[in-house]
Amino acid sequence: MLKNSDRKIELKVSADGSHTLYVPELEEHYHSVNGAINESMHVFIEPNLRYSTKEEVSVLEIGFGTGLNAFLTALNQGNKSIFYHSLEKYPIAEELALKLNYCANPEEQLFFEKMHLAAWQKESEITQNFTLLKDEVDLISATFKRKYDLVYFDAFAPEKQPEMWEPQIFQKIYDAMNDGGILTTYCAKGAVRRTMQTCGFAVERLPGPKGKREMLRAIK
Ligand SMILES: C[S@@+](CC[C@H](N)C(=O)[O-])C[C@H]1O[C@@H](n2cnc3c(N)ncnc32)[C@H](O)[C@@H]1O
Repeated sequence: MLKNSDRKIELKVSADGSHTLYVPELEEHYHSVNGAINESMHVFIEPNLRYSTKEEVSVLEIGFGTGLNAFLTALNQGNKSIFYHSLEKYPIAEELALKLNYCANPEEQLFFEKMHLAAWQKESEITQNFTLLKDEVDLISATFKRKYDLVYFDAFAPEKQPEMWEPQIFQKIYDAMNDGGILTTYCAKGAVRRTMQTCGFAVERLPGPKGKREMLRAIK
């Protein structure tokens, strides 16, 4: 068991063999136990990153966590040039991050490590076409100076962290997005969908990743 800030965190293996983390205090995993990589590809990479036709994109991620979404975004960026801004209130220990089994070969491992070892609060050029800004901040008090094309809304579930799913949170994200911007989340709750609609998003339900019937995609 390893600690981040005051929290205990446990390393677990999800159903597709990829690691996830478990926070006993919240009784919550960082990813679906039905497959962490499978969920990230299904919720963020396919219907968001790959759905976007823009070649220069700025991504906002809520919750850097294991860095899995950032890593898969870089691996799947095709000819896109990406500015990736990820917010995280509780960064995990580097020691724990380097145990994660997301990499298929040593080259990917170096790349993944570069993301984790990149300084916080600083723009880091991971590759020529991928700039990472890891931002140690609380989403609740965060303000945005940039405009985003893609948002990966990957907070813990509304039952665990209701304050992350409040209308004022979605409104400030909506206001920070470019027209046509895309937000996806694994959560398909009716209350969340209606909150997004109230903020101005056009929201659609999509088939969910393994173990979930639906997920949401919202367009500004
Ligand atoms: C469901 S996990 C997903 C993490 C990450 N996307 C991944 O793939 O590993 C939710 C993340 O949100 C972070 N988080 C929790 N509360 C937060 C807050 N108030 N502001 C920013 N991040 C927060 C957690 O520490 C955790 O890393």
